[in-house]
Amino acid sequence: MQTSSNKKQLVIGNWKMNGSSAENASLLLSLLPVISRFESVEVALCPPYPYLTTVADLLDDSDVALGAQNLSAQLSGAHTGEVSASMLHDIGCRFVLVGHSERRALYAEDDDLVAKKFATALRAGLIPVLCVGETLAQRQSGETEVVVTNQLNAVLKAVGIQDLVKGVIAYEPVWAIGTGETATPEQAQAVHRHIRQYLADQDRAAAADCRILYGGSVKADNAEQLFNQPDIDGGLIGGASLDAMSFAAICWAAQTGPITDSIAI
Ligand code: 13P
Repeated sequence: MQTSSNKKQLVIGNWKMNGSSAENASLLLSLLPVISRFESVEVALCPPYPYLTTVADLLDDSDVALGAQNLSAQLSGAHTGEVSASMLHDIGCRFVLVGHSERRALYAEDDDLVAKKFATALRAGLIPVLCVGETLAQRQSGETEVVVTNQLNAVLKAVGIQDLVKGVIAYEPVWAIGTGETATPEQAQAVHRHIRQYLADQDRAAAADCRILYGGSVKADNAEQLFNQPDIDGGLIGGASLDAMSFAAICWAAQTGPITDSIAI
């Protein structure tokens, strides 16, 4: 049997290091009137740090939430160039990405640092979005589940299952990010199911409530099939979130009724 819950699908746009004041304003001018009509999907946007406050102002009259792409694991003090969780909370962020594969690969963020950032974000009242996923070499050598499980375990060890599920999990296979090569709905569902089952082994109800997003070359034309998988609860969107009509179409594809997941009861 399957379980169903009333959690809404969640679509998060990760703008990465793109945009300008003018481009952001123009994107939101086109996007917001369209997605304001979609009631059964939750949407968030993660602009680069310098634009957070102006984007927060532009989002003010909408239901779209604000998120950041990164945070410091430190609370405050002499950490030049870093941004703390409480600052992000202070300026109106609801979400923060943690452990994106670009941070892991290009900025040497290891599992311990990611776990610390996750815990710091939660303590400040933010919802951390924990990114996990395997490289192409790891997939080809059959290590996908081990890699993802290890990434989850680091955070589980730091905060426990009850706090882990206060966040959101985003499965982003590294080989599918920015490459145009999407995981097939079946490939993505298999990993999402593994994640949910792994969480369910520790707490079945918590696992059913936890939102697990897919990210990696999600586009307007593949979103619906991905979001229709039982354990995919929305998406983390990079490139396509920079184009208003593509992102709106992806949000539209996530408009669904109650989500049903695959946990047997
Ligand atoms: P793309 O959608 O551009 O593949 O990026 C995915 C991603 O990294 C979102 O965090």
